[in-house]
Amino acid sequence: MLCERIKRCILQTALIVSENHIYILFLSINIDWIMGKNIYFFILIFVLASCGTNERVSKEVFDEVNKSMEVKKVNEADVLKLALEWGEEISQDAQAQLISALQKAISDHGISGAIEFCNLEALPILNEVGEKYNVTIRRASNAYRNPEDKPKDYEEMILEAFEYNAENSLPTEANIQKLENGEVLLFAKAIKIPNAMCLSCHGNPDSEINTETMNKLSELYPDDKATGHELGDLRGMWSIRIPKKEIIKRM
Ligand code: HEC
Repeated sequence: MLCERIKRCILQTALIVSENHIYILFLSINIDWIMGKNIYFFILIFVLASCGTNERVSKEVFDEVNKSMEVKKVNEADVLKLALEWGEEISQDAQAQLISALQKAISDHGISGAIEFCNLEALPILNEVGEKYNVTIRRASNAYRNPEDKPKDYEEMILEAFEYNAENSLPTEANIQKLENGEVLLFAKAIKIPNAMCLSCHGNPDSEINTETMNKLSELYPDDKATGHELGDLRGMWSIRIPKKEIIKRM
């Protein structure tokens, strides 16, 4: 008899266990066998109890979850403006790293020795700067020395526009193009020959580049197209692929 009642009591207790909480929805106790009276007490309990520890979700965690779920309202014009500013900053950083490495190589090994250094280090330096900013950095040129720097399809038009402006003495502005449905923003900026130092490796092969350097160049770059430049000439362009999400992260 007692057993029967205990069973019924248990059946009348609805327990729902969710991830971290126990909800006791309805508990009906047959008090009959407890108190010897023929009355049923129904106790409706709605308990939301933390299981195990009494830990409460901290406000910080709550805010963090809310923040990650928040949909950022971004304005397209602001994204492009920031991409342009950021591209400018990255290209200047990359340029500074290349120039300081180049100057050190020239002072350590002379001009022809520095060719070898550029051959080995120019691309790794750019990759490293790219990793720092989560972007991909290249230099592209129709008059390329390293065939890796030959323009890609999406760079050709921009490079042509820079060349047109240079030939017609028009100003060349850095710009942003949308690639891959706008998921990638391409920062492009003209690279000109700013000083005579560049000419010792990119200038006139008969008068500005010494024989030793010319020999090294033809050994390492048999199809070199990057000589014969003058001060102020267009040498190529910066081509920096910036994932749009990296820009949005910074807004
Ligand atoms: C010591 C010789 C040397 C000097 C000085 C030098 N360069 Fe170069 N430059 C090179 C070499 C070598 C490469 C090919 C690097 C490679 O293999 O990735 C190169 C590549 C480039 C490229 C990439 C496009 C291409 O042709 O492959 C640009 C742009 C460039 N140089 C611009 C300049 C500018 C601007 C200066 C002056 C600030 C300069 N260089 C000074 C040797 C030099």
